[in-house]
Amino acid sequence: MDASSDTAIASLLLDWYDAHARVLPWRALPGTAAPDPYRVWLSEVMLQQTTVAAVKDYFAAFTARWPTVQALASADDAQVMAAWAGLGYYARARNLLACAREVAALGAFPDTEEGLRALPGLGAYTAAAVAAIAFGRRAVVVDANVERVVSRLFAIEEPLPGSRPTIRARADAITPDARAGDFAQAMMDLGATVCTARNPRCLLCPLASACIARLGGDPARLPVKAAKKAKAVRQGRAYWIERNDSEVWLVRRPGSGMLGGMRALPDDGWAARADGSGLPPLAGPWESAGRVSHVFTHFALELNLSVYCGVRFDGLEGGEWWPLDRLDEAGLPTLFAKAARLALAEKEDA
Ligand code: ADE
Repeated sequence: MDASSDTAIASLLLDWYDAHARVLPWRALPGTAAPDPYRVWLSEVMLQQTTVAAVKDYFAAFTARWPTVQALASADDAQVMAAWAGLGYYARARNLLACAREVAALGAFPDTEEGLRALPGLGAYTAAAVAAIAFGRRAVVVDANVERVVSRLFAIEEPLPGSRPTIRARADAITPDARAGDFAQAMMDLGATVCTARNPRCLLCPLASACIARLGGDPARLPVKAAKKAKAVRQGRAYWIERNDSEVWLVRRPGSGMLGGMRALPDDGWAARADGSGLPPLAGPWESAGRVSHVFTHFALELNLSVYCGVRFDGLEGGEWWPLDRLDEAGLPTLFAKAARLALAEKEDA
């Protein structure tokens, strides 16, 4: 068989996967019965924009606490949001709950790509991944790893994102009818461990003999990416309000919007200020504790931190006093966890 034919590529890759599949907690070993759709779906939602290493502990904690989709569907929103804290992209957690409740009402996960696509939070990628991995459906699963592997395999020179339709067509052509879930995960593993963004390990690659970019001598050059616009920098201010050396004032952010539904320090509304305009004047008893930086998808934020430590603080509403010695249980998203560390470090220095 010609090593570069579409079926040969699938078969080389599946043979490699049988020997080298990464063992991951949400996976079934190659060739064994399909894994639980709940675990596949949960892992795929967690893995969007997030590395396997970062996801593992969260996956273990979620499945220990909510072992079935029904259990997750009956969970308290605030507890799920707090358990998600630190994983980022919090809309995923809100959609996760909405999806779990819809699936619980349906009785089970739909077993087709189309049915899955209709669930809250399931985009094209996730619906295809769950259909293939949990239900053995033939589906074309394209994530960033697959984009890289396919771009090199077929030496696609057009820059991303314009090349996506071509990549998809090529991925479709090499996807086999059988073992589509193993095939998808094999492509991901190949991209994560062999066909890496920098210094690809072509000597270990099962597809080396079919890879046109390797033939050209410089596979790491692909995929070409269109130049990104520099991220805008937004300024914001958060407030650390502490009383009796033992409690801090925390609020819950509105359900939609950035970090929606998460517990947080009160702030000046930076999330809604797209123009990056300056900070409001700092009136009152505040002291500056410096600032923390955080990068979101569409902008970078410099969050200035103002601190007031007193014995009493009148006029606060819509939040709660939270014990400092249990701050790690508040489920603060990373931005505010960084600000809290800064405030506490400042106090130690004072
Ligand atoms: N990234 C996203 N989904 C994955 C999976 N199922 N296995 C490995 N890496 C992944």
